[in-house]
Amino acid sequence: MRILVIGSGGREHALVWKIAQSKLTDKILCAPGNGGISQVGECVDIKADDISGLSDFAKREKIDLTVVGPEAPLAKGIADEFTKNGLKVFGVNKAASRLEASKVFAKELMAKYGIPTARFKIFDNPDEANKYIDKINSPCAVKADGLAQGKGVVVAKSADEAKRAVSLMMQDKIFGDAGKRIIVEECLEGQEASIIVITDSKTIVPLASSQDHKRIFDGDSGPNTGGMGAYSPAPIITEKLLQNIINNIAYPTIRGLNKEGIDYRGVLYIGIMLTRDGPKVLEYNVRFGDPETQAILPRLKSDLVEIMQVATEGKLSKIERLNWDVRPCVCVVCVSKGYPGDYEKGKEISGLDTAAKIQDVVVFHAGTKKEGNKILTNGGRVLGVTGLGNTTKEAITNTYQAVGKINFEGMYFRRDIGRRAIGGI
Ligand code: AMP
Ligand code: GLY
Repeated sequence: MRILVIGSGGREHALVWKIAQSKLTDKILCAPGNGGISQVGECVDIKADDISGLSDFAKREKIDLTVVGPEAPLAKGIADEFTKNGLKVFGVNKAASRLEASKVFAKELMAKYGIPTARFKIFDNPDEANKYIDKINSPCAVKADGLAQGKGVVVAKSADEAKRAVSLMMQDKIFGDAGKRIIVEECLEGQEASIIVITDSKTIVPLASSQDHKRIFDGDSGPNTGGMGAYSPAPIITEKLLQNIINNIAYPTIRGLNKEGIDYRGVLYIGIMLTRDGPKVLEYNVRFGDPETQAILPRLKSDLVEIMQVATEGKLSKIERLNWDVRPCVCVVCVSKGYPGDYEKGKEISGLDTAAKIQDVVVFHAGTKKEGNKILTNGGRVLGVTGLGNTTKEAITNTYQAVGKINFEGMYFRRDIGRRAIGGI
């Protein structure tokens, strides 16, 4: 098969790396890709949200399957456009992408179909939101309705902090139209985990559980980022708990969408808070997690291309379960100085080959580009150094040993990735 992956991050490098291992793959292309991806497949200079450009390319190049990484092209309707043109695509349609693109849509769906989530209210007027915040007078989460690059949520400890968030979103419009409507919801307490499943709108096949580290600094402190590291499995997700989440959250979500007339084929990512009252949904994404995917795919023994192909064809029930390497996997993200704020690009990265020689380590690239024989930094999140080990502790040691071989000017990474999994944070 000729396979096209869309995107340019660490998640896409992990996807390309895994797809390249499939016996079904003849050729792998990636648009636009990055410096690491260019060493595994052919990078094509088309932007991830250039829907018609990508569709023309896929037709011309006789692509058999297109795999969409990020949410933006999905929300723009790439799957609808490809399907209309007779092209096979692994990724949800525009109607289904609203599960991520509109938090109001997601919360209303959960309320309608009895899916456990934090209690909430929706506002399109800041005064009403502020009145409500004063009334509840307890910590709450303020969320912009639309896509805000992972920055649209403020977990506020006080009413003043919550009202500041309302003002930034609704009056200063820092997220533009994404903040026209907001949600104010109760604060949930517990541990977070990511449950990523593949579905053809009827059958659900879960991937291994994972947890990510969203904050920039050690000890899960400081501002939120796109993700500073992840590990799989998440020890708190027992087999029983996973079944509970699949039966009481994942299936009701898909069935609810079906009842709303929406077909859902692709990835469903459920951000879960494990509260004292059981698992509750924090958010949905309609795509693979980043960096969770980097920690999950090295453990997958089944053929990813086959899974995506049958899901696209509505035949996922053919696959009963996936096979996993029992060994845990840890991914440490190396970022540019200044991230998640402003950062510089174009710094030469050294030590990549030495790091990759370490057994059971793979270095996924995110913001990198190849220039001649050099690999340069080209984004905030630069690399996802990923390693397996017989225990989580061993995976952590192995991964940090590889991180130690790599360097670029201003490189920063957290030193405690995975420690939470062994009771350390
Ligand atoms: P979201 O984009 O909705 O997943 O929110 C981003 C992060 O904010 C989550 O991963 C949680 O850490 C936190 N968060 C979101 N909603 C809540 C909530 N209701 N209670 C506590 N923390 C939350
Ligand atoms: N790691 C969180 C996300 O992919 O949204």
